[in-house]
Amino acid sequence: MTNLDRCYNIFDLREAAQRRLPRGIFEYVDKGTEDGISLEENRAAFQRIKLRTCFLNDWSKRDLGTEIFGSRINLPFGIAPTGSAGLMWYQGEIELARAAADAGIPLTLAMGALTSLEEITQAVPDSRKWFQLYPWEDQEGNYEMVARARDLGWEALVVTIDHAPGRGREHNERNGFSFPFTPNMTAALDMAMHPGWMWRVLRKYLVNEGMPTNANYPARYRHSIIDGKKRVRPKRFEAMTWEHVRKLRDFWPRKLIVKSILSGDQARAAVDAGADGIVVSNHGGRAFDSAVATIDILPEVVEAVGSRSTVMLDSGIRRGSDILKALALGARMVLVGRATLYGTACGGQAGATRAIRILADEMERAFGYVGVRRVSEIGPHIFAQREPRMAGCAQTAQILGISEAIGGSA
Ligand SMILES: Cc1cc2nc3c(=O)[nH]c(=O)nc-3n(C[C@H](O)[C@H](O)[C@H](O)COP(=O)(O)O)c2cc1C
Repeated sequence: MTNLDRCYNIFDLREAAQRRLPRGIFEYVDKGTEDGISLEENRAAFQRIKLRTCFLNDWSKRDLGTEIFGSRINLPFGIAPTGSAGLMWYQGEIELARAAADAGIPLTLAMGALTSLEEITQAVPDSRKWFQLYPWEDQEGNYEMVARARDLGWEALVVTIDHAPGRGREHNERNGFSFPFTPNMTAALDMAMHPGWMWRVLRKYLVNEGMPTNANYPARYRHSIIDGKKRVRPKRFEAMTWEHVRKLRDFWPRKLIVKSILSGDQARAAVDAGADGIVVSNHGGRAFDSAVATIDILPEVVEAVGSRSTVMLDSGIRRGSDILKALALGARMVLVGRATLYGTACGGQAGATRAIRILADEMERAFGYVGVRRVSEIGPHIFAQREPRMAGCAQTAQILGISEAIGGSA
């Protein structure tokens, strides 16, 4: 296992993950789409924002927790759905779920996960669990999966809506990666050059449960390179409209979250269709390479629906201060994707916990620098500059009911 104590930040975990994973799998996790512009811009946009320091406000009693959908989480972030934690580590999704449960934060299980809803429920029965759906043309298939999450009592359904046009991930074509694995020489050589991963991860699956596949898919879509069945691929739902979101709303009894929102108009449409929450997300720069950075569009979304929806954000979170910036612009919490995947690749549950701890410690330090003690004290007053792009901040503060600037720094 990687020496986690020597991974001081998320970038160290990333480097260690790169050493451990076959190239195709690492690039699948790490890269963006097309030219990687949206991926870079997610980071650059956070880095452009500077914060105002504010000391000597008695910072001794602080609390990083917050409330989401009426109950407390210990940190203002959760785990984003990623369909590959199970390739980072043997039963990586269970490891990640345990780390999230121990930290007291929500886990979103991707529909494409290698671990079933039932196994996750068994591993972490009392934690907050959300299930993510990419709607297919096959409605029966969609509802079959959603019904399983419903019957297991999962808290929220996250519907990702950026799926229909497909992805431009040229690197996957080049390095031969696909999942479920398909036989090809490039991928086979890549794996052969990573015997450690083959031994620790693939061998354990083969010995214990067989070739890994998408565990939550209905049986007709669940297959692997060695089961000899004809490959049936579910079709992306190109004809999907908000009407279909409304139908899911009627079917799903608990919280409904729509993910992939990048404008005020789409946010309004999601809330009108019955969403309780939305995730401002460009899929971590993995979907549309001309997409706006999420932190740049967040004020528009908060202005549109902040008073009637739980607005969350993801894409590009690598430092605790990024989380603070998103909260100051009106997000109630954020989701992290790659940060905890890198951690899981380095040490399973312990690695994911390390990633969560790094972000929490950095965020706590950032709280201290800007002079806030709890999430409810965070607001636009923490920004150093009054830039035009922050013009919506006063309104954001009003929407969120932040009336008082801390430490007289408004
Ligand atoms: C390897 C990987 C797989 C992902 N799989 C899914 C998925 O199955 N469903 C989904 O809605 N988002 C998926 N995402 C996107 C994440 O939910 C999230 O939007 C993104 O990772 C956030 O950006 P970050 O990685 O910079 O934190 C995936 C992201 C990664 C890195």
